[in-house]
Amino acid sequence: MSTIDSVLTETRVFQPSAAFVQQANISGPAAYQALCEEAERDFDGFWGRLAREHLQWSKPFTKVLDESDAPFYKWFGDGELNVSYNCLDVNLANGNADKVAIIFESDDGTVTKATYRDLHARVCRFANGIKALGYKKGDRSIIYMPMSIEAVVAMQACARLGITHSVVFGGFSAKSLQERIVDVGATLIITADEQVRGGKTIPLKPAIEEAFAMGGCDAVSKVIVYRRTGGAVAWNDGRDLWMHDVEQGQPDTCEPVQVNAEHPLFVLYTSGSTGKPKGVQHSSGGYLLWAALTMKWTFDLKPKDVYWCTADVGWVTGHTYIAYGPLAAGATQIVFEGVPTYPNAGRFWEMIQKHRATIFYTAPTAIRSLIKASEANPDQHPRKYDLSSLRLIGSVGEPINPEAWMWYYTNVGAERCPIVDTWWQTETGGHMINPLPGVTGLKPGSCTKPLPGIFAAIVDETGGDVELGKGGFLVIKRPWPAMIRTIWGDPERFKKSYYPEELGGYYLAGDGANRDADGYFWIMGRIDDVLNVSGHRLGTMEVESALVANPLVAEAAVVGRPDDLTGEAVVAFVVLKGARPDDAKAAEIAKELRNWVTKEIGPIAKPKEIRFGDNLPKTRSGKIMRRLLRVVAKGETVTQDVSTLENPAILEQLGKAL
Ligand code: WT7
Repeated sequence: MSTIDSVLTETRVFQPSAAFVQQANISGPAAYQALCEEAERDFDGFWGRLAREHLQWSKPFTKVLDESDAPFYKWFGDGELNVSYNCLDVNLANGNADKVAIIFESDDGTVTKATYRDLHARVCRFANGIKALGYKKGDRSIIYMPMSIEAVVAMQACARLGITHSVVFGGFSAKSLQERIVDVGATLIITADEQVRGGKTIPLKPAIEEAFAMGGCDAVSKVIVYRRTGGAVAWNDGRDLWMHDVEQGQPDTCEPVQVNAEHPLFVLYTSGSTGKPKGVQHSSGGYLLWAALTMKWTFDLKPKDVYWCTADVGWVTGHTYIAYGPLAAGATQIVFEGVPTYPNAGRFWEMIQKHRATIFYTAPTAIRSLIKASEANPDQHPRKYDLSSLRLIGSVGEPINPEAWMWYYTNVGAERCPIVDTWWQTETGGHMINPLPGVTGLKPGSCTKPLPGIFAAIVDETGGDVELGKGGFLVIKRPWPAMIRTIWGDPERFKKSYYPEELGGYYLAGDGANRDADGYFWIMGRIDDVLNVSGHRLGTMEVESALVANPLVAEAAVVGRPDDLTGEAVVAFVVLKGARPDDAKAAEIAKELRNWVTKEIGPIAKPKEIRFGDNLPKTRSGKIMRRLLRVVAKGETVTQDVSTLENPAILEQLGKAL
């Protein structure tokens, strides 16, 4: 709680410049107020108007919101459209055919550009290819690919045919991949031979073979492989096909398959408070509306902008703000294969300079690591580069601490660029609480105020509003078009997780938050057993299940510890089946378990520290006191009441780091 108190005392306010306000898509507080009031006054009319203005419908909707089966809301439910048509064909028709859609920069700095015409042709050829293989609307595909134009092509081609995709981040293990293939019922996989990051090639295709070997993947009839490096890969004749062969000879137009607005565009897995990741199901119409609209509202996108979001398509940010939103809004965007620190920590700044980027959107964890790197290597500091093209910068994924905010504002934005600190989630589909750059005065560390049409509030356990300045649960009181529709295959879990009865119909975000006297929101972090490591969501239970799956481990408890670089770090407390190891043995087993978790889930879940005990602190009823373990993990002395503990002495044993 100490860091929360300190951000709340932040009093600096940075107003947008007159020049920015004057040119902004939403310009000045009155324009924002007018939109908020329109949404308040005529909720359906507001969303209906926006959906007609920003999307093209093959069959217009007659009803905006259907609440009859709440919380399974339907938006624009009798309308039909095609997402890929709205991202590509629309741009060919409106004069953007020769505009660059994607500037791709590979890990080694090679640049490839694709215009809207090129992208449309590639998507059509690939869509025709997968259609020829027999895939059709309603099928599910898994996409396990590196950052590339091809990954965007794969997603768009699925959207064109009404195939629901589920992208699995390339850093996830074969085990995580296999679980998602099974859960979503995929019949098609699109992958690559290898990926290239930070000067190294990392295999991808072998994870597919491993996933098949684990079983349950028999429904998958084809694996399409994008040849990124040409490295040797195992090949299964009859099942495996090269992406270029699938495209070969196909016509460069492809009739888009019109789908209902509620048709699932994608399922994206994210961590919850139990061990099993949740398949967040998103719609076509409502989702795309919000993706396109927030490009214009939050990023103030204009035709001449060069926009860059550094996220990976494996996360929701890469879906909404790379694969769909920018294209639906007709943007020119940079897609980057590599990492921020290769060949050195000046890479981002060098790329902004080289491509004259005007809008830059990244994560606090990247900013913090680059602050550190630029202190160590002054020639990689942003001031060594020409960043004068930038006009707006953004932050996403976790709270940005005021120090990092100030550094970003001063050194990257040159005190000229507004920072849009965007609060949202995999489940929300797009931005929810963030500044409008031509409207909102900025306070470092606050995501400021909800977007028009988003009824965010802070409530107590019974759903009652709390007074300003008092913390509580962040909720969204009314539905919004881009919201999660359900958890794939588990509607009960959807209701329980997001619409608990006590809250009387509000969407529960899972974050604690506070509001200051000006009505600004301050996010305090998760209220459930979910960690945020480098902006990536991770369930403590997921890591615990991975640990106890190891034959050496009897029991494990995982907590988060504040970390300067990654926001939170994973700390695991482990009881082995055998005796508690001595120091030398402990180091060896800790290493083995860290590698084990990497194999089970992926490198992002690897515990930063593992401590071994004879037992874990438990109440007499056997409940593990994670609250106390969080204190212990920070190296602090437990001052809380421990009288309900079965075994208080264990805290001292666990208090010692290796
Ligand atoms: C959780 C959602 C946002 C898309 C990428 C992450 C935290 C996200 C912020 C922010 C404070 C933030 C929340 C949220 N979070 N953005 N600007 N300020 N916290 O999506 O993996 O679904 O994670 O990330 O705790 O619930 P996600």
